[in-house]
Amino acid sequence: MTLTGNSPKILVTGGAGFIGSHTVVSLVNAGFEPVIVDDFSNSERSVLDGLRAILGRDVTCYPVNCNDAAAMADIFKKETPVGVIHFAAHKAVGESVAKPLKYYRNNLDSLLLLLELMPQYNIRNFVFSSSCTVYGQPEHLPVTEETPRLPAQSPYGNTKSIGEDIIRDAVHAQIPVKALALRYFNPIGAHPSAQIGELPLGVPANLVPFITQTAAGIRASLTVYGDDYNTPDGTCVRDYIDVIDLADAHVQALKKLIESQENSSYDVINIGTGRGETVLNVIKTFEQETGVKVNYTIGPRRAGDVEQVYGDVSKANRVLGWTAHRSLAESLRDAWQWQKKLSSQG
Ligand code: WQD
Repeated sequence: MTLTGNSPKILVTGGAGFIGSHTVVSLVNAGFEPVIVDDFSNSERSVLDGLRAILGRDVTCYPVNCNDAAAMADIFKKETPVGVIHFAAHKAVGESVAKPLKYYRNNLDSLLLLLELMPQYNIRNFVFSSSCTVYGQPEHLPVTEETPRLPAQSPYGNTKSIGEDIIRDAVHAQIPVKALALRYFNPIGAHPSAQIGELPLGVPANLVPFITQTAAGIRASLTVYGDDYNTPDGTCVRDYIDVIDLADAHVQALKKLIESQENSSYDVINIGTGRGETVLNVIKTFEQETGVKVNYTIGPRRAGDVEQVYGDVSKANRVLGWTAHRSLAESLRDAWQWQKKLSSQG
C-alpha cells in the first residue's frame, strides 16, 4: 500500500513494540500515515527494518520518550497528526511489583502529558492501550465491559486501571478529545511474513514466547504454573488474541473516533476472541500445528495468576464492526515462524 502525501497522520507511541509495530502495518494498509514515537527502551531498531520489508517504505520514527514534554510538543507541531494511539508503557507484571514507582511514573506521566498536549494541537482522537488485567479474577465469565474492575493484581495492572480513570475524568471535564480504551486479553502471534513479532528481552514472562523458545532449544523446558485449578484440565484459562487481529481493532477504533461528531467522549471495549484456552491446550495446539514437541513440567502456581479470564467481545463487534478472525493454531504457527527467523539470526 503506498501512501499519498495527504494520508492522515497517526502518532503511534511505542510503535516499535510488539503490538505497536503490527498496528503500524494495519494503519498503512488502511490508508493512514503512522508516525512512530519510541525510545527503544523495550524494543529494537531492527523492528524498523522489518516494517520497511513489509511496507516497502520507511516509517517516520522519533527516538523519543513520550514523557519528554518539549520533544512531544515539537513532534505534534511538526507532524500535526489527527490522532494518537498510545502503546508506550512499561508492561512487565513481575518487574512492576519490584519497581512500582518506575511504573507509576512512566506509565501515568506519559498519559497525562498526552492528554494535556493534544488539545493544544487540536488532536481529537485518542486510543489507549488497556488490559483485561483490570478485571482481576472475575466472578462471572466471559467478562463484559460492565464487569466491575477489581483491585489490580500488580502495579502494572493498576497503571492501566488508573489510566482509564484519568481519561474518563478528563473527558468528563470536557477536554476536546474522543477516546477509546481497548482492554486487550492475551496478545500472541507474529506477522505472517516473519519480519516483525514479539521480542521478549531476557527470559520471557509470557507463555507463548516461552513455548517457542523451548521448542527452539533456547530454554530447556517450560514450567506450567499449576494444574490444580478448577478448569477443564487444571491449568489456567486465557483469551489469546492474535496480534494482527488486535492491530486491526486499533484501526477500527480510530476510524470510529474520527467519524464521531462528539466534542469529547470516552468508552472502553474488550478486544479478545471470546474463547478461553487452557495452558495445556495451547501447548498441544502448538505441537500439532508445528510438529515440534515442547518439553514441559508441571510446577507450582505463579503468584498473581488468575484462574480464568476471557472476554465477551460483542461490544467490539457492535461498536467497531470488528471481530477476531485468526485461530489459535494460526497465531502459534506465525509465532513459531518468527522464532525460527530470530534463531537463524543468532
Ligand atoms: C498466561 C498463562 C500462566 C508462562 C499478562 C498480563 C497482561 C498482558 C499479558 C501485557 C498463565 C501460564 C506463563 C510460563 C505458564 N501483559 N504460564 N508458564 O499473566 O495471563 O497476562 O501478560 O500487556 O496484562 O497480565 O500472561 O503469558 O504470562 O500467562 O504456565 O512460563 O500461561 O500461569 O496461566 P498473563 P502470561
